[in-house]
Amino acid sequence: MGKIIVNGGTPLKGSVRIHGAKNAVLPILAATVMAEGVHIIHNCPNFSDVYITSEILKSLGAKVTRQGSDLIIDTRGEMGSVIPEELMRKLRSSVIFMGAVLARNNYAKISTPGGCELGPRPIDLHLKTLTQLGADICEKNGYLICKTKGLTGKTIHLDFPSVGATENIMLAAAKAKGETIISNAAREPEICDLAQFLNNMGACVQGAGTSTIKIIGKKELKPTEYAVMPDRIVAATYLCAAAATGGEITVTDVNPEHISAVLSVLEDCGCDLLSEKDSVHITAPKKLIAPNGIKTMPYPGFPTDAQSLFLAMLCTAQGTSIITETIFESRFKPAAELRRMGAKINLDGRVAVVCGVEKLSGTKIFASDLRGGASLVIAALAAEGTSEIYTPEYIDRGYENFEENLKMLGADIVRLR
Ligand code: EPZ
Repeated sequence: MGKIIVNGGTPLKGSVRIHGAKNAVLPILAATVMAEGVHIIHNCPNFSDVYITSEILKSLGAKVTRQGSDLIIDTRGEMGSVIPEELMRKLRSSVIFMGAVLARNNYAKISTPGGCELGPRPIDLHLKTLTQLGADICEKNGYLICKTKGLTGKTIHLDFPSVGATENIMLAAAKAKGETIISNAAREPEICDLAQFLNNMGACVQGAGTSTIKIIGKKELKPTEYAVMPDRIVAATYLCAAAATGGEITVTDVNPEHISAVLSVLEDCGCDLLSEKDSVHITAPKKLIAPNGIKTMPYPGFPTDAQSLFLAMLCTAQGTSIITETIFESRFKPAAELRRMGAKINLDGRVAVVCGVEKLSGTKIFASDLRGGASLVIAALAAEGTSEIYTPEYIDRGYENFEENLKMLGADIVRLR
């Protein structure tokens, strides 16, 4: 709803604190249904994906209240097993409830999930691996109905280190009978955060962060308190905004190890970086230099969620940048909007060739996914003149106080609701 108006050209200066990670808190919230009691989630970010996930929890029977950055989830009493279609369609990651609800009730009914436009978002790996654990899954009238007489641990190999599928298996296996081994598991930091949360609930998850995760199922889990890790992609977003505007900022409450691939490319681009235990200080050059190629890979490789941030940032770099997207089929949607600003971007399947131009010019542009929307704001901040970014609700899915924080860093930006 509304639009974001940016008058570009101001180098960003100052410091910004990074909020809790969207992609860690969503599976953690799903995991709360697996134990009866009151959970307290600290550093819980406040934006629409978390709001929708809270609505799903309420539709299952949980009580959810927010106190500042704490979310309190009370899962005592009967918990349902059917997730309303309208909520499922708003959030692709709600497929994660399948494993958690199945583990609690031996039954789950969900509709095929929705979410960002990043190309086809199949859930075949989720279905295949839950079936291997003993779930019977059938599709009826657009719903997936999952039943089990009781889940049993298995050794499961993932054809692709899918983040969501790894998480779904971890959730389902946490209360399955016996031991589950996931080979070729995703290694993202958010997987480690979920594992830590589950272990705090009394589960036994070992090896998270490596390609082999072992889960020994427990009969009962208990509610717990937990502080969510910082959002590494939001941190990358502010760093790219500073780099694109020739600015100098510090991002605090971030784990530099979580974004080492991003930091190394920023250095290739001519930025000076100073990393401390939980902060990164960046000083950008007036003109960025095109880095050696960028290729998105599963963690610890260059994160696909930062790809469009760099696509926008490199439009005005000196030289030609080659960006290869190996994770999602169509994740170059911002290119068309960036071209309207004067960018020179050629797309060939999963490869984008960005020839640096002197300047971008502000104009009307439209967001069409979460990180793509953030990348358009980065381009607008660097551009000459005024930009209007429409459909900013995509950005609201995963950024808390985005415009306010950028304004605090000196950007000339306003959000018209
Ligand atoms: C998670 O999505 C993140 N979302 C994404 O972040 C992130 O881009 C992605 O992992 C990769 O890091 C959340 O954690 C909520 P995948 P997920 O399963 O789990 C294919 C953002 O901007 N695949 O690792 O959906 C899939 O189509 C979002 O915050 C199958 O083929 O990612 C994709 O091409 C965007 N079959 C690739 O694997 C499956 O069953 C990676 O998907 C599952 C996935």
